[in-house]
Amino acid sequence: MVRGIGLKVLLVADGAGVLCHTASLVTSLVRTGLTVRLSLTASAQVLVGPYFGSMLSGHPVLPFEELDENGLSGYDAILVAPASEKAIKEMCESPAWNGVRCPVLVGPGLLPKDDNADAWDELDATISAKGWKLIPAGIETCTMGALGELRVASTERCFEEMMVAIGKNDLKGKRILITTGPTAEDADPVRFVTNRSTGRMGVALARMAAWRGAFVTLIHGPMSWPIPPINAIRPVPVRSANDMYMATMELVQEQHIAILCAAVADYTPVEYSDIKIKKGQDATFALLLKRTPDILDAVGHMPGERPFLVGFAAESDHVHANAQSKLQAKNCDMLCANDVTKPGSGFAVGTNQVTVFLRGGEVRELPQMSKEDVAGKILDIVSERMSLQ
Ligand code: PMT
Repeated sequence: MVRGIGLKVLLVADGAGVLCHTASLVTSLVRTGLTVRLSLTASAQVLVGPYFGSMLSGHPVLPFEELDENGLSGYDAILVAPASEKAIKEMCESPAWNGVRCPVLVGPGLLPKDDNADAWDELDATISAKGWKLIPAGIETCTMGALGELRVASTERCFEEMMVAIGKNDLKGKRILITTGPTAEDADPVRFVTNRSTGRMGVALARMAAWRGAFVTLIHGPMSWPIPPINAIRPVPVRSANDMYMATMELVQEQHIAILCAAVADYTPVEYSDIKIKKGQDATFALLLKRTPDILDAVGHMPGERPFLVGFAAESDHVHANAQSKLQAKNCDMLCANDVTKPGSGFAVGTNQVTVFLRGGEVRELPQMSKEDVAGKILDIVSERMSLQ
């Protein structure tokens, strides 16, 4: 995934947190093709030798205390994490930092003695007042020996928020609803009907949309793929097709775009047994199923104004004909069909090969790519069709 080529970022690390945080963060950022400059505070430099930062980033380390207007210019974004309260205070009082024009993200690191809700609220207020963005700490911590556990946003969270900050922004202000994953249709307290979807395709769409400035509502079934920790993604977990239908119909009204990528069960058990169904004497067992609501069809035929609607189709035969008829029957603006029998395409793999069918008859065949790259191409087409570029 090379998305940072041509962009330059500054990462400032402060204090003892440099030991557990900085190496993996610089490595993740460099891997996306970004040019990364690293600046360390004096206290961070005491802990790591002079070659630590230059080995990681490929550039000499810049001392934080010497960063002036010149030293802070020319970046597409600046991330300060972990940042002590002392470093944040110095930044707030510095005319050079007050003159920075690119996005500034601050991930405070608090030791147990300072870590409380009031301290975080105060930091949030201070950082927001400067027009900078706070990256709040989750439950993750860095072990600081005798000092205790430093609570700071994980390197993954810092990385994701940095990618949002330097993103293309063509979807800024857009609300996107995405469904993903399988649904689980319970027959009794032990058994359920489901399918092979991991949720990875829809998570890739959510991540790429958030990187481009969108606010994403991600309605997902019980899936195995993790959701990246990005503030702009709101996860809405559901279980059954009916739960997904209810959540989608409640939230879709307020969206600009809806991308329904979930592998929703078409059928669910007619009856739910409160107790575990007992094994009988017969050699066979029949589970009677009934149709679930078709969410894509319901959104496509919603009365009044509806969001730009993208459907998916998991096909194993007659891909073009089936996809064209789903596009029309469900009244979509766009339909992404994947042949789930092709190696490297469809369920539970890292890649996908999608053909995009557009309202009006145009068909665009995309090559096999990582699910993240497929997601990027789908969003490019959405952005183009909605004239957002
Ligand atoms: O999750 P992964 O492991 O990454 O796999 C990705 C994927 C293969 C699941 C994904 O790329 C995909 O193809 N998603 C659609 C799966 C599907 O259910 O396709 P379908 O042809 O059965 O349904 C067509 C469309 O109707 C889909 O947009 C589906 O979300 C929607 N649908 C289906 C049934 C139903 N009751 N309600 C629906 O809204």
